[in-house]
Amino acid sequence: MDGKESDLIQYHLKNNPSLSMQSICDSVIGLIFATLFNTQISVALAMYFLGQCPKALQQLREEFQQKMNDTGTTGKLTWDDYKNMEFCESVINETLRFGNIVPGLWRKTLSDIDFKGYTIPQGTTVMPNIAAMHLDPSAFENPNIFDPWRWLVMKKSNNWMPFGGGVRQCNGSEIARMEIAVFLRHLILNYNWELDEPDHPIAFPLITFPKDLPIRIHPLVEKTA
Ligand SMILES: *[C@@H]1O[C@H](CO)[C@@H](O)[C@H](O)[C@H]1NC(C)=O
Ligand SMILES: *[C@@H]1O[C@H](CO)[C@@H](O)[C@H](O)[C@H]1NC(C)=O
Ligand SMILES: *[C@@H]1O[C@H](CO)[C@@H](O)[C@H](O)[C@H]1NC(C)=O
Repeated sequence: MDGKESDLIQYHLKNNPSLSMQSICDSVIGLIFATLFNTQISVALAMYFLGQCPKALQQLREEFQQKMNDTGTTGKLTWDDYKNMEFCESVINETLRFGNIVPGLWRKTLSDIDFKGYTIPQGTTVMPNIAAMHLDPSAFENPNIFDPWRWLVMKKSNNWMPFGGGVRQCNGSEIARMEIAVFLRHLILNYNWELDEPDHPIAFPLITFPKDLPIRIHPLVEKTA
């Protein structure tokens, strides 16, 4: 934006006169969902999964501390550190795999497609079920276990597409990952937390916590030897 428009709607109206009103609404609503809802729920899911997996929480805390010790920075996260936090990346990948905040995508075939003996005619709406892919035991061993360590071995997977894929892949994937990492690092270096009441994620149809995941957090006490 060049600064003259004060919001996204004005930006579209001024710069994209060919967009229909519906496309503008899609863009605005999509942005609200993608930036506000998805990142927040990913963070909540990470806190929920880590809360049930103390070993992963411990390893993540150690990685954050280690990076801080190595660079001697007093708490600030540097870009180099961010790009070298392998376990943090694994926790985020696993949270996105297991959490399935985007269960499916809507796509349209632009030409006839042959798929496993079926022909999907041009113009058909196709909904890849991302959650089913992420929980497929032939793609992920013990898919119903939160296991960030699998990423240290696997590195990447063609069956992992929390941000979709192809030309319509989510534009905000990198910033979303970074926001999650920055939040987790600040939280985990400074606090412990526990559930205040039992709660669990449900798909309704998007992922939500019926009680909004009430937690109690405690500052980590600085250990002075
Ligand atoms: C980081 O440094 C602190 C203080 O010297 C030390 O207690 C801690 O064990 C170190 N942590 C790691 C993961 O290296
Ligand atoms: C996490 O997923 C990204 C995107 O596929 C991949 O590039 C990265 O290697 C994965 N991280 C780890 C630690 O496997
Ligand atoms: C974001 O999406 C737009 C429109 O689809 C595309 O032109 C642009 O290259 C994308 N940017 C990134 C960083 O992926």
